[in-house]
Amino acid sequence: MDPVRNPYAPGAGQRPPELAGRDAELAQFHVVLERISSGRPERSLILTGLRGVGKTVLLNQLRSAAIGRGWGTAKFEARPEQSVRRPISSALHMAVRELAGRHRDPERIEEFLGVLKAFALRDSAGGRLRDRWQPGIDVPAMHGRADSGDIEIDLVELLADASAVARDVGVGIALFVDEMQDLGADDVSAICAACHELSQAGAPLIVVGAGLPHLPALLSSSKSYSERLFRYMRIDRLDRAAADLALRAPADREGVDFTTAALDALYAAADGYPYFVQAYGKVTWDAAATSPITASDVAVARPAAESELAVGFFGSRYERATPAEREYLRAMADLSEQGAPVATAGVATMLGRRPASLSPARDTLIKKGLVYSAERGSIAFTVPHFGRYLRSQPS
Ligand SMILES: Nc1ncnc2c1ncn2[C@@H]1O[C@H](COP(=O)(O)OP(=O)(O)OP(=O)(O)O)[C@@H](O)[C@H]1O
Ligand SMILES: [Mg+2]
Repeated sequence: MDPVRNPYAPGAGQRPPELAGRDAELAQFHVVLERISSGRPERSLILTGLRGVGKTVLLNQLRSAAIGRGWGTAKFEARPEQSVRRPISSALHMAVRELAGRHRDPERIEEFLGVLKAFALRDSAGGRLRDRWQPGIDVPAMHGRADSGDIEIDLVELLADASAVARDVGVGIALFVDEMQDLGADDVSAICAACHELSQAGAPLIVVGAGLPHLPALLSSSKSYSERLFRYMRIDRLDRAAADLALRAPADREGVDFTTAALDALYAAADGYPYFVQAYGKVTWDAAATSPITASDVAVARPAAESELAVGFFGSRYERATPAEREYLRAMADLSEQGAPVATAGVATMLGRRPASLSPARDTLIKKGLVYSAERGSIAFTVPHFGRYLRSQPS
């Protein structure tokens, strides 16, 4: 089929041609927006799931929904070893700019920007950041609000002021945080505290986080009340109907169809993981000569799709591991079945090492986002089918 018209979109955060199987999440978010807009209490939201299941894409979609409702929206991606001050400041700056045109009192906006600037310029040690960094806000920084240097106090004040601006306009603010598991411990606890305070005050502000499956555990170890503070949504593989829709709807718009046997073969290959659905769909489209696409087109395309995944999806991640970490990953692969968590003690036995001597490798693998600790004493891949990939590689 014409590669120029190939609709599929494997990529990180790449908007899919058809957002399949997420209607329940979108509907639920709609309810949350309406409830907060009418002053009712609602919990903030946390989306969790493995690599490539579509967390970023869904986060962007929820953001569009909030924008469509007239809300101010802000989004940033957490990075390891990076404080949230600057990314949150830039994000909220955007959100409030979206609202400024509808606000009746420009002075209130200026006042907020002054607080925002003060917040942005405070560093974690409590001092002022050198003027090396310009937040691009051309009002003078305020004093005495959101600038104590204690991130928890400052964030509560900043978000309270931001939500007050939104309330003046009759809407709310949604703050989206991607890769939330990469936040530092102080920042996690500040965000939890801010959500806690604001929800008690009935402020129209919601945080929507996305991250790897251990994010809920991280939040509860930070603040014991976080289980009641957030609503957790597990973003999972697509079921058969949704995976078929993800393939067929975009093809249909190009006048192309699949045979049932082709869809069977594609589901067997992609296993419902959205990234894989896009990846196999893309290669299969290029391999097929005519519509409908058949199972033998899929069979022809499969090795090429697999080698693309081996390089781009799996290999690029494996490359980031050190030799000691690779040894750890390989032991996990030998022990794990279908990506299920394995006991860390089992990995140690397999490698003939004391468990404590493996902690550094395990911890850095967690920091790199390649594995996560499902529960105490167990460990799992964040990347679907990673075990299968490693087992297929020569050691
Ligand atoms: N609901 C969906 N239907 C069809 N395709 C989807 C869906 N969600 C995501 N995709 C596709 O899956 C791929 C991965 O999506 P995305 O980057 O959002 O995943 P992620 O969970 O954020 O991954 P990571 O943890 O690596 O950041 C993209 O190519 C996207 O187009
Ligand atoms: Mg993502």
